[in-house]
Amino acid sequence: MFNSTRIDQFKNIPTPFYYYNMELLENTLNLIKTETSRYGYHIHYAVKANANPKIMKLIQTYGFGADCVSGNEITRSLETGYTADKIVYAGVGKSDREILTALEAGIFCFNCESIPEIELINELAAQTNKTAKIAIRINPNVNANTHHYITTGIEENKFGINRWEFESVLETLEQSKNIELIGLHFHIGSQITDLSVFKGLCLRINEIQEWFKERQILVNHINVGGGFGVDYKDPDENPIPDFVTFFGIFNEFLNLNPNQELHFELGRSVVAQCGSLISKVLYVKNGVNTKFAILDAGMTELLRPALYQAYHKIENISSNGEEDIYDVVGPICESSDCFGKAVSLPSTKRNDFIALRTAGAYGEAMASRYNLRDIADSVFSNEL
Ligand code: LLP
Repeated sequence: MFNSTRIDQFKNIPTPFYYYNMELLENTLNLIKTETSRYGYHIHYAVKANANPKIMKLIQTYGFGADCVSGNEITRSLETGYTADKIVYAGVGKSDREILTALEAGIFCFNCESIPEIELINELAAQTNKTAKIAIRINPNVNANTHHYITTGIEENKFGINRWEFESVLETLEQSKNIELIGLHFHIGSQITDLSVFKGLCLRINEIQEWFKERQILVNHINVGGGFGVDYKDPDENPIPDFVTFFGIFNEFLNLNPNQELHFELGRSVVAQCGSLISKVLYVKNGVNTKFAILDAGMTELLRPALYQAYHKIENISSNGEEDIYDVVGPICESSDCFGKAVSLPSTKRNDFIALRTAGAYGEAMASRYNLRDIADSVFSNEL
């Protein structure tokens, strides 16, 4: 991934920074485009994974729409070339102001997560003389078999509308003159690598669709969310997820009614692989039973290890020395600011470059200024 020319280029850039391999991103986008064109599926890129304008602009050129979770994401999407008619908007806590932003822009669809939310959207749409197109975000009670912090589709989660509320939703919709129901929306979690989970989701959607059909409710759009996982362990072995199999599952197991269109909200699987967080070793320090490699990047730049015990492959890209064992940590005043314990790395010293791989999704996007740290810059392979 990082040849010597690239590492030389890194020497002039202040660390830490996010590095994006734009060729890999394009290869990923090309595969997604080919596979979705085969079936006529629609992609809305999940902006929350990475809202970097250059990344967003490139994705948009492939004709994808945007999946947003805040008013600011809608604004960013419009600014980076996404058209309103391809923007979907989810979130359990849409504020009045955010709903107005979305109505003003004329987005394709609100993915609604509760009855009070539908009532508010109706009220605000009436006030502004608009009709809001909505999908009901359904909690399908399908377990995604992923980390419990990123599981969203089981009944105990705060997301979506549960089955026992469907009747009340239909009653609400009947009274909501400024709402048009156009779809059903699902999203059961993230970093799902067990593909049988998606088959299970398809079968559940088929059942749910029957319930609606029995009541003569036919919607034109089914949105199955995102969630497709990536290979964090071996980023060079599998740099692009197996989209052929992924989309094939939906083609095989999901029963779409005539005229129904299928939508996806992919985030991680689009951008995770192309990004690495590049940092330098500040110090190597002896602990009681271990050596610490202390980096100039920490949980402020890449929160996932501290928050979810997530694994990002750690590489010393400067050294060819003999392997040794290190605890790789950041500079932040928290013990959870640790990227990996007992990591085997080639002999590591001050100023070596360390790459934290597969950091393009939920990396830069979740950065914070804790400890009043600077926000890391981003660097693009096609601009070096
Ligand atoms: N659609 C909805 C409604 C979502 O909530 C999400 C992610 C996506 C689509 C995109 O899912 P993806 O394709 O990226 O799995 N910060 C966590 C991940 C949180 C995901 C939240 N929702 C992490 O770093 O693992």
